[in-house]
Amino acid sequence: MQRNEKSIMRALAGETLPVPPVWMMRQAGRYLPEYRATRTQAGSFLDLCYTPELAAEVTLQPIRRYGFDAAILFADILLLPQALGADLWFVDGEGPRLSTITSGAELDRLKPIEDIHETLAPVYETVRILSRALPQETTLIGFAGAPWTVATYMIAGRGTKEQGPARRMMYADPEGFDRLMDLLTEATAEYLIAQIEAGAEAVKLFDSWAGALPGGLFEKYATEPARRIIDRIHSVAPGVPVIGFPRQAGEKVIPFVKATGVAACAIDTNVDPRWAAENLQPLTCVQGNLDPMLLVTGGDALVRSVRETVEAFADGPHIFNLGHGITPEADPANVDVMLKALRG
Ligand code: CP3
Repeated sequence: MQRNEKSIMRALAGETLPVPPVWMMRQAGRYLPEYRATRTQAGSFLDLCYTPELAAEVTLQPIRRYGFDAAILFADILLLPQALGADLWFVDGEGPRLSTITSGAELDRLKPIEDIHETLAPVYETVRILSRALPQETTLIGFAGAPWTVATYMIAGRGTKEQGPARRMMYADPEGFDRLMDLLTEATAEYLIAQIEAGAEAVKLFDSWAGALPGGLFEKYATEPARRIIDRIHSVAPGVPVIGFPRQAGEKVIPFVKATGVAACAIDTNVDPRWAAENLQPLTCVQGNLDPMLLVTGGDALVRSVRETVEAFADGPHIFNLGHGITPEADPANVDVMLKALRG
């Protein structure tokens, strides 16, 4: 099968398909008993990320169970700061912790960009295993965090409400902040290029906290880094589609898409599908945006919402997905209900 016969690749190339291709953010995760078993076998979450056979195994689990049209590499956006020299650990039930960056001067302690591949080599090996193991019709998606979102974790050393510490550094030490953003922009491009060279067919840039950027700085810290990353990727790997996800950016997704040339824009649950169909879909393929809570509750509301989403986007390129990651509380049986409502 040619690469361009894969449904996800066709949608990313701008084709409108009779049934939208589908995958889910966090599709390999704690809602699946088989994920929990492999996670226990691996020990810690980071051990799982850095053990290629096990990371490939959990990536494949949702493909075997549901036959999704895309597999997303199992890893985490915080592996890149770790590869740059930050300490990283996960506290069960709480989330990630990192050593903090509080000034530009501290950036000198990080490693040079070309050294990231040493730490990230197991991730590239996972990609190689997957590109051999996946069914021919399944697209392999690589990913990274966008510089702003990764910077929020590096600066605060953890997830934060409203990303206060990062916004504080942005104003209090603009030079240091810009140096960190430049470093992350370049390192992210090299990381994604290495994933593509290992076999990723498309890549996604997660800007989960884009909505916390002040409106006037969105272009500088969300759009511009994404544009630079995509230009750099395309200078080495022309035509490899990049999916952007400037979460909670509201109507700023429009100038974002125009300036970056993303092959698809993922939209979060807040976005009204009818607005996106009218204003965003004429510019690019839209990915999204079922409320993940419906996979906890199921029932008629789930079926109705799947149909409404599909109908809203029926006249243009669409990849069916959630508006954010599936949660550990989701019922695996509801994913079958979602797929039946979608595919018939
Ligand atoms: O989507 C996938 O299935 C691919 C794998 C993937 C993970 N994280 C696995 C993961 C991807 C694409 C991510 C992205 C990620 N990681 C983001 C951006 C997307 C988003 O969700 O907003 C962010 C902000 C992170 C950082 C991160 N990783 C946090 C805040 C947490 C803790 C919260 C939580 O859900 O526990 C993680 C842990 C994490 N990353 C898990 C998984 C499956 C859960 C870890 C576990 O098994 O205990």
